[in-house]
Amino acid sequence: MICGGTGSLQMEELRSLFADGVVTLEYQETVDSTNEWAKRAFRTGARDASVFLADHQSAGKGRLGRSWTSPEYTSISMSLLLRPQVSLECLPMLTLVMGLSAAEGMREPAGLDIRIKWPNDVICRGRKLCGILTEFVSSPDGQEQAVVIGIGINVNVPSFPEELSDKATSLLLETGRPFSREEIIRHILWAFQRNYLIFRQTGDMSGLIGRYSALLSSKEKEVRIMEASGAWEGVALGVDNGGRLLVRRRDTGKVEAVFAGEVSVRGLLGYA
Ligand code: BTN
Repeated sequence: MICGGTGSLQMEELRSLFADGVVTLEYQETVDSTNEWAKRAFRTGARDASVFLADHQSAGKGRLGRSWTSPEYTSISMSLLLRPQVSLECLPMLTLVMGLSAAEGMREPAGLDIRIKWPNDVICRGRKLCGILTEFVSSPDGQEQAVVIGIGINVNVPSFPEELSDKATSLLLETGRPFSREEIIRHILWAFQRNYLIFRQTGDMSGLIGRYSALLSSKEKEVRIMEASGAWEGVALGVDNGGRLLVRRRDTGKVEAVFAGEVSVRGLLGYA
């Protein structure tokens, strides 16, 4: 039985849901970071589409060098190792593919208006439900390359520290009921399988852009783009085939395509 308790992930249940062998599921109760684990596993030959899950991360990593805390047993810490034949430019796009899959995968079981905050957050009512950290890994001789997409999801987290309470949320807090983490993992991985197939056929976001833009939290809203060279404002229009955010600048009226890299986007009316 799959239930929304607060114990360890039920790996037997989960493995039976993925008995088709398309993905390989690995589990450890405690690990430093599932992204680091996936990278180590890549170096020892882990296969394409391996999924690394843990109930506790002692050194979880966030974007821009930050740390990431995953409350144990009530959140999901998951990393997916892919060995695609793609160049570095595809990295930011895979973050978008996972963001879309996480939003789509949770909307139906949760019955919530879950949206994507470009490039790597999934939000509900303007608060962060899930963050994504995509990393590139290559073999020492540079011959083999892979991508690790790490995702941290607040599922049954009952509360957050005061400094995060207006920025973070969980499915439990949004609905008042607990969720099966196995069920959420299943929905997200199935959505990812579907979306990744489309992405691989085109090599870009063109086949996903319609659904992605429909879930983009900042669409037609005012945003502030914070780049190393300074900040500017405009209205977000959607994403292009390369996964860049299209923003009409307030100062020049021109549409700029913003790369995901080292940039932060803020809604002028709050985090989203
Ligand atoms: C962010 O929003 O800054 C990205 C957070 C990504 C967190 C996940 S949890 C699973 C995986 N392992 C890590 O160490 N980080 C990612």
